[in-house]
Amino acid sequence: MKFFIWIFGEVPVPNLLTIGGLTVLLAALFGGLWALFGNVVIVVMLALVLGLIAVLQATVYYTHQQIQALQSLHSLFDIRAPLPAFRSWNITPDLATEVVGLIQERRPRLIVEVGGGLSSIVAGYAVKEYGGRIVAFDHLAEFADQTRATVERHGLSDVVTVRHAPLKPVEIGGKPWLWYDTTQFEDLHDIDLLFIDGPPNTTQLLARYPALPLLIDRLSPDAVIVLDDADRVMETRAVRRWLAEFPGLRADRLLTKRGCVILRQQADQAAGAVSEHTGAAMQG
Ligand SMILES: C[S@@+](CC[C@H](N)C(=O)[O-])C[C@H]1O[C@@H](n2cnc3c(N)ncnc32)[C@H](O)[C@@H]1O
Repeated sequence: MKFFIWIFGEVPVPNLLTIGGLTVLLAALFGGLWALFGNVVIVVMLALVLGLIAVLQATVYYTHQQIQALQSLHSLFDIRAPLPAFRSWNITPDLATEVVGLIQERRPRLIVEVGGGLSSIVAGYAVKEYGGRIVAFDHLAEFADQTRATVERHGLSDVVTVRHAPLKPVEIGGKPWLWYDTTQFEDLHDIDLLFIDGPPNTTQLLARYPALPLLIDRLSPDAVIVLDDADRVMETRAVRRWLAEFPGLRADRLLTKRGCVILRQQADQAAGAVSEHTGAAMQG
């Protein structure tokens, strides 16, 4: 690890000397392989280069989207303190703008977030502007405290409440699951927007699945459910199960960086589209 930090620095961006050294090393390696195996090595190299170009293009595409989304957020709200960095476990800026758009359009009175954090801050600014309140849950005290402190720093404590709800065993359909302590949800009724971004998949398989069976009776009739990271295998399977178990639901996929699925009751479809990115709809 120390070796990598010495070569690349704290942020893994190689300097020119390292790039030059790596180029010479790779050239020597491929030269040796070519001498051993012949022209097939050149074909493999070309394929690798093409793959790399495709990855770089996708990165540029998504970076452009994120910059545009960040600019949009900063122009909508008077952000009162530095926002925490958008990192791999946080909501992405493109999804944040979608959530803000939903809040602006639908004016939810009660938003519940399972897996709070940066998303609670961004949604907090929207709620402060358009009305409503947010209750954000975290299963870890450390992150609940962190989010609460950020909420205070941004002057959003009047609209965002952070609750620490450790994961506890719960039974769904006769099977054991782990989920946020359900007693902490008992005072929450008529949830208009449910944002599902936890618990992490490291806690159990299909970690986010319990959210709907456990909260469906606490949703308002025209509630909207937003699932982050919907492109991942576990989340895809959770959505499939929800659609099979709750036939009234309809799911729309948004092309955000990590994928997002928006679920609503079928009868609510006339209420309008969420965004222009809405893709294929999956029917329950
Ligand atoms: C996907 S994250 C939730 C992210 C949140 N919606 C946001 O936009 O910041 C799910 C859970 O990961 C945990 N978490 C938060 N920050 C973390 C970090 N820096 N490293 C690892 N896990 C973290 C928290 O317990 C959080 O509830």
